[in-house]
Amino acid sequence: MSEESLQELVETAKTARLRSVAPFSNFLVGAAVKTEGGIVYTGCNIESASYGLTVCGERVAIWKALSEGERHFAELAIVADTDTLTPPCGTCRQIIWEFCRDATIILANLRGESQTVSIRELLPRAFDARFLSGAKKGSS
Ligand code: THU
Repeated sequence: MSEESLQELVETAKTARLRSVAPFSNFLVGAAVKTEGGIVYTGCNIESASYGLTVCGERVAIWKALSEGERHFAELAIVADTDTLTPPCGTCRQIIWEFCRDATIILANLRGESQTVSIRELLPRAFDARFLSGAKKGSS
């Protein structure tokens, strides 16, 4: 993928960020995931008064794409208004590992700074379905 395509995705995630529902933290996050076929799904964080039900922007974008039948992802952009680029939280790293493993992740802020990372560097030694099939059932 080209740098231009990644920056375009960042712009889309920036726009999605403005739709965040974050009255409790006031921390707005936008995300955009692009399929291998070039379709883009956006997400923003959505907070609940029961705080633990909050869903991060990345996962909203990924859930939207998966629920439309998408399974192969090329790029994921995550945007927040922080000086240090905001990386995905631990829960989102797990979901990115399981569903967007080969995607190029681009972290960006509102000052025009960005950096690409891979989920392999963000989540080394990840847990996934391979362990479930390899588990010794019924043993403690
Ligand atoms: N948040 C995200 O949307 N993505 C992340 O990876 C980090 C955290 C949201 C969740 C919550 O609405 C707010 O940021 C503060 O934690």
